[in-house]
Amino acid sequence: MAESKLVIEGGHPLQGEIRIQGAKNSVLPLLSAVVLCDEDVVLERCPALSDVYAASRILTHLGCRCSFRDGKMEIRNGGISRSEIPEAMMHEMRSSITFLGPLLSRTGSCTLYLPGGCELGPRPIDMHLHALRQMGAEIHETHGMLRLQGRLRGTDLYLPFPSVGATENIMLAAVLAQGQTRIHNAAREPEIRDLAEFLAACGAKISGAGTDTVIIDGVERLHGCVYRVMPDRIVAATYLSAAAAAGGSVCIQDCCPEDLTAVTEVLRQMGCRVYCHESRIYLQSSLPLHAAPYIRTMPHPGFPTDAQALLMAAHCKARGSCMFEETIFDSRYRHVDDLIRMGADIRLSGRAAVVHGVQKLSGTTVHATDLRGGAAMLIAGLTADGITELTELSHLDRGYEDPEGVLRSLGAKIERIT
Ligand code: EPZ
Repeated sequence: MAESKLVIEGGHPLQGEIRIQGAKNSVLPLLSAVVLCDEDVVLERCPALSDVYAASRILTHLGCRCSFRDGKMEIRNGGISRSEIPEAMMHEMRSSITFLGPLLSRTGSCTLYLPGGCELGPRPIDMHLHALRQMGAEIHETHGMLRLQGRLRGTDLYLPFPSVGATENIMLAAVLAQGQTRIHNAAREPEIRDLAEFLAACGAKISGAGTDTVIIDGVERLHGCVYRVMPDRIVAATYLSAAAAAGGSVCIQDCCPEDLTAVTEVLRQMGCRVYCHESRIYLQSSLPLHAAPYIRTMPHPGFPTDAQALLMAAHCKARGSCMFEETIFDSRYRHVDDLIRMGADIRLSGRAAVVHGVQKLSGTTVHATDLRGGAAMLIAGLTADGITELTELSHLDRGYEDPEGVLRSLGAKIERIT
């Protein structure tokens, strides 16, 4: 596809109401979970994202038939006819590793490939593999190829870190395993709850999702279901940060305010007025913003690592200084270089980054380094003087459905030029 770019004219406040797309980080494990079902599945509020298309191609390869229209993904599930995922498909999307647990559980043996690193640094899967071995899987790894086999049995598992992907993979491996599996120090992200609710709708027996101990009692089979994907809390955080940085007032509809308390708290510290009511968040921002003193990324319910770049962009012109500490990923400051090129004053030191607010940012040509880094550049462009051109949009299109359309509906001057 010809390289396209977003052209943003900064300086316009945002005004209006938007609805939030379905959550990328929920729908991807849900698509992996379909491997466990022996009937059709329909996912409503499924976002139109390149990662979703990649996951549906894996399901098609495994024997399902997927059709996507008007936010609805219909998966005709005539049974799994393959138990191997080609290397190219695995490398297209890192989170395809959550096909590991369900494919092994459903077929008794499978071959996949290590997903490899990504823009955020190495993405090890040692916790995933250690847990599956404890459940009885035999795992052979040669030159990046993983061959697993064995009948899985439930057991007590202790995660050294509340890994989201490892928690999801274990849940998917456990729902058809023999006996009970207890995951201790499990991830508590809202997407874990959404996965548990989907699996329960298909007949699984799960309790404790959203707490640090998830308990799964193995069942014989999973039937299908029609399931509405939760709204994307990081996309909501993106547009809230954009409105905070550009000024104005927006209403985010159809979201879960209780999943965003760490982010809305920082926005209040920055001087925004934030009101939450049922499934709506209202934000009013009058510039200049004030810097929050300190933002440390933590597992949920702490401040989400996926929102770090977003709030860093919003801090570039805030009065005062903010110290960021990125504790989840090794290299998640790749957006800093381009923010500095726009005039931001940011000092990096290992996992820490200090942002000193400046009077102005100047538009220039910048590029998306990764999914949330790309969103951060969008936010910076909205607040910069002049024109900002953002390239490498494939990163952005992995997680954001029509970002220019959403921002234009709020009054931003932004075009996609192909
Ligand atoms: C999920 O990634 C999300 N991706 C990420 O969102 C998100 O940033 C992350 O959770 C943290 O919330 C999806 O859900 C598809 P982890 P995941 O396992 O599962 C290390 C986005 O922007 N680790 O909780 O990969 C790992 O290297 C993406 O939407 C091990 O060392 O996150 C990382 O440093 C980016 N060994 C830390 O744990 C393991 O076996 C957290 O990883 C597994 C993880």
